[in-house]
Amino acid sequence: MKVTDLGDFEDPILVFGGPYSNLQAFDALKAAARRLDIPAERIICTGDVVAYCADAEATAQAVREFGCAAVAGNCEKQLAERSEDCACGFDSSSQCSILARGWYAHALDQVSQDSRDWMASCPDIVVFTKEERRYAVVHGGLTDISRFIWPVSSDTAFIEEFSAVEEAVGSVDGIIAGHSGIPFVYNTEQRLWINAGAIGMPPNDGSPDTTYVTFDDQPRIHRLRYDFNATRQAMENAELTQGYHETLSTGLWPSEDSLPCIMRHT
Ligand SMILES: [Fe+2]
Repeated sequence: MKVTDLGDFEDPILVFGGPYSNLQAFDALKAAARRLDIPAERIICTGDVVAYCADAEATAQAVREFGCAAVAGNCEKQLAERSEDCACGFDSSSQCSILARGWYAHALDQVSQDSRDWMASCPDIVVFTKEERRYAVVHGGLTDISRFIWPVSSDTAFIEEFSAVEEAVGSVDGIIAGHSGIPFVYNTEQRLWINAGAIGMPPNDGSPDTTYVTFDDQPRIHRLRYDFNATRQAMENAELTQGYHETLSTGLWPSEDSLPCIMRHT
């Protein structure tokens, strides 16, 4: 297991998840960081740099060149090994799994050996300290990189993940994760679980905006506006028209069966 310790941060930091091959969203994220005066040294990605959208190789190169820390997501792990699927953790009959057969093949075809080598070098956990509180950044979970932790998950799920993380890196006051694509902050036994959401796909709330998180004394979820029409056009040009291209505009997932029933709109 690879661990990167970024040390202690005095100034604000930014955490974002899931660029998902969405180059326009990553450009907007960099612009937002500039406006907030947060350099790449204080920015962390929770993984899945490459996924649903069209610009897989360009986005991988852009994140790598930007120089922020990036935790390996299941997509990085699978692409680094040239595996046959994204291993997102859904049943093979689920809508998300069916749709993945389109974008994953496209990504596997685009991503260069250099980018795969970079993906293979990404850490499993990033740790840092902020305001005398120690945080660990993981992808889905540490018991399972593709574990979906939702705001409605059981306390047991959170406790299992804190135990696994603390066994790996020692005591932490909070965990920051990605993978599920839904941003939230959950307080469990005085400790925080924060999901930064994803910048590359909206969080199924009917808006095309995506999300990222900043930390000063407390985590704060921000909306990210970007040129989603350009991203959609790039997907259509690449014939990635199985459903996620529409999500960029509508803000609604084609794969609601991925979500716990209580979080679905239909
Ligand atoms: Fe993931």
